[in-house]
Order: sequence, then structure tokens, then C-alpha cells
Amino acid sequence: MKKLEIKNLHVSVEGKEILKGVNLTINEHETVALLGPNGHGKSTLLSVIMGHPKYQVTEGEIFIDGEDVLKLTVDERSKKGIFLAMQYPSEVPGVINSDFLRASINAHRETPIKLFEFYRELDKVSKSMDIPMDMATRYLNEGFSGGEKKRNEILQMLLLKPDFIMLDEIDSGLDVDALNVVSNAIEEMQNNNSSLLVVSHYARLYSLIKPTRAVVMINGKIVVDGSAALIDRIDKEGYEWIHKELNISIKKDENKMNNVSIGTCAVKNAIKK
Ligand SMILES: Nc1ncnc2c1ncn2[C@@H]1O[C@H](COP(=O)(O)OP(=O)(O)O)[C@@H](O)[C@H]1O
Ligand SMILES: [Mg+2]
Repeated sequence: MKKLEIKNLHVSVEGKEILKGVNLTINEHETVALLGPNGHGKSTLLSVIMGHPKYQVTEGEIFIDGEDVLKLTVDERSKKGIFLAMQYPSEVPGVINSDFLRASINAHRETPIKLFEFYRELDKVSKSMDIPMDMATRYLNEGFSGGEKKRNEILQMLLLKPDFIMLDEIDSGLDVDALNVVSNAIEEMQNNNSSLLVVSHYARLYSLIKPTRAVVMINGKIVVDGSAALIDRIDKEGYEWIHKELNISIKKDENKMNNVSIGTCAVKNAIKK
């Protein structure tokens, strides 16, 4: 595991086409940086791979190790080793975090994990993530700070050890120490031979996790597929060169959020000091 192939993927939400023919292959043991201005379809792509019901695939295919992903339910995809750390994790009042984590682990196993073994593992992983144990006894993500939500996503990743990992702006809201903790966890998964697809606006995360490749999504398509050197170029120059060199006009996000290119990030500046 795990090779992911996306062929000519078209996706609509509420009648609006967001992805307009995505082609992307991620080979075993690769860490691919997915770059692109805000509002161009990165989160949509990740949600569709995971199976979010709101998005309609109107054309195209997704395979994981040759198996048709689009035929699988979300839990089946998860059991195949696909994992998504969400950009905006949901708060789920009434569901205790540790119950959720244990149920996730058990859903991936033939026989349930022993309670003692679960708590030993949770304790170990929580400590490695600088997560206080009381986060396990609170409701899932309820009242968690932005950074705590992100660390809780990574905690799930470490407990489930997925083969194909998607991280959607996992570093937003993290301070410098938390960024180091999260990148160590990502490195552990790389050493575990997982494949990764990582969305971030921040060159700092990428300098820590060292992607093997970088791709750029503009207007719902992958328009550049190249080496990790692309990250530095975009960090320094933004996306304007793509417009000039490839003659692709770049749609402005309605929220004007696409002014936030990598390189204009507070976290990065803080680290530089
Ligand atoms: N559930 C949704 N309902 C309506 N529009 C959506 C939904 N999800 C995404 N979109 C729209 O799709 C476009 C791409 O969004 P997104 O995939 O979040 O971009 P990115 O992650 O690159 O910032 C945006 O214009 C966004 O408003
Ligand atoms: Mg997004």
C-alpha cells in the first residue's frame, strides 16, 4: 500500500462544478504537497477521496491499489487505510473523545482492543503529542482551541496508523512547539511507509516534513506537477508566475482569502526570529 490514482475527476456541490478534471497519482511512500490559492478545490478533493456525501462525482475515477474507491462507503474507505485530518474538525457534543477514539480503533480490528491496552497506547501517544489526558474525557472537539482540534486529529492518525493520509491545513492555528510535535508525528507515519497528501500554505511545515513532490491546484485542476522545489518558488513568488508562464487565469476567491500565499504566514515569521 498504497497507490492512489485519480483520473479526470469532476465534482459538483449544490449544482456548482468545483473540480474540473483532476488527474493525480500518488505512489507508495510518497509525501505530496498540494498547493494552490484558497477556494480552488483542495479541501473538496480531499473530502471526495474520503467520501463526503455532499459532493457529487459527475465524472472520473479514483482507485486505491487498483480498487474503485468511489464504490466504497466512508467506513470502508477508512478500513482500507484512508484517513483525513480535516481543515475544520467538527465539534460533537455528547460523544466522549476517548470513546470515539476507542470505537475508531475497534472498527479497524477483528477483536476489540483491551481497555488496559487502549489506555496505555492513548497515554503514550497523548504524551508524545503534548496533549493533556483530560482532553480524552471531554466531548469530541467541543470547546477545544484551534490547535487542540488539530492535535486531536493527529492523535487519531497515530492511533489508527493509516496507509494513505490526507492532512488539510493541519498546521493552521499551531504555535511553533505544536508544529514541531505535529511534524514529528508526520515523520513517524512516513517511517511507517504511509503515503501522504498534505495541504498547507506554510513553507515551514514542508521544510520539516520534506515532501517528495509538489502539485498545484488552480480552478479545480492540477496545473503543475513537479518536484518539491515548487514549494520554495511559490513561497517566494506566490502564484502569479503560473498565470504568466502557463497562461492560466487564476479565479479570485470570493472571500479574498487567496491573498494568503505561503510566505506571508505568522507562524513562519515567528520561527524566523
Ligand atoms: N459544501 C459546500 N457548499 C457550497 N460550496 C462549497 C462547498 N464546499 C466547497 N464549496 C466551494 O468550492 C470552492 C472550493 O472550496 P475548497 O475546496 O474549500 O477550496 P480550498 O480548500 O482550495 O480553499 C469554493 O468556492 C467553495 O466556496
Ligand atoms: Mg481548504
